[in-house]
Amino acid sequence: MSKKIVVAICGASGSIYGIRLLKALLDKQVKVYLIISEAGLRVLEHETGYKAGGKSESFESFLKNQGVLFHKKTRLNRYDQDDFFAPPASGSFRHDGMVIAPCSMKTLGAITSGIADNLIHRAADVCLKEKRLLILLPRETPLSAIHLKNMYKAAISGATIMPPSPSFYFNPKTISDLVDSVIARVLDHLKIEHDLSEEWG
Ligand SMILES: Cc1cc2nc3c(=O)[nH]c(=O)nc-3n(C[C@H](O)[C@H](O)[C@H](O)COP(=O)(O)O)c2cc1C
Repeated sequence: MSKKIVVAICGASGSIYGIRLLKALLDKQVKVYLIISEAGLRVLEHETGYKAGGKSESFESFLKNQGVLFHKKTRLNRYDQDDFFAPPASGSFRHDGMVIAPCSMKTLGAITSGIADNLIHRAADVCLKEKRLLILLPRETPLSAIHLKNMYKAAISGATIMPPSPSFYFNPKTISDLVDSVIARVLDHLKIEHDLSEEWG
């Protein structure tokens, strides 16, 4: 049975991480439950050129342009941030983990305060209460004491904090290599085989 992974993209810089993760998961025919926050959409448009409104391209054709292959069995389910009827809003929906890539300081703060006022916060809240894998890629710099405290609160509540810090020991040549070095670690934690980076040693 293919894995089911919830992916959220927030309005922090680095929407490319979310897109690269989607590509890696869909390549492996994982069932993806995607939520992009309203701010996430704005930043995605700014950073990638994707046009969400008006006579825009569909998100699926945007992904295809980003190199995502849509297999016959590809399952990409997308939900609005206000759709509390979506499966990830309920603890009875069993999945194999949730990744927020990138995660804004606002969403981090909402999760660590237990404020579930959009589907991303709610789905993360559900992961913590159900003891499911929740991986956060928080992005901000520099970090205030509030940000650090929230990361600590998320970590002791069961989340995995994985700041998108690319590694340089594999001599990356392109931005894509740097992004892959981060997404490879996410896939390791989701226990999904990949060839995005070599195993050290
Ligand atoms: C271009 C751009 C880049 C941003 N980068 C960050 C960032 O790196 N980290 C962050 O926490 N917020 C960042 N923000 C601010 C968030 O988008 C804002 O706090 C928003 O309310 C987050 O909402 P969300 O968590 O629902 O996506 C950025 C905003 C813009 C317009």
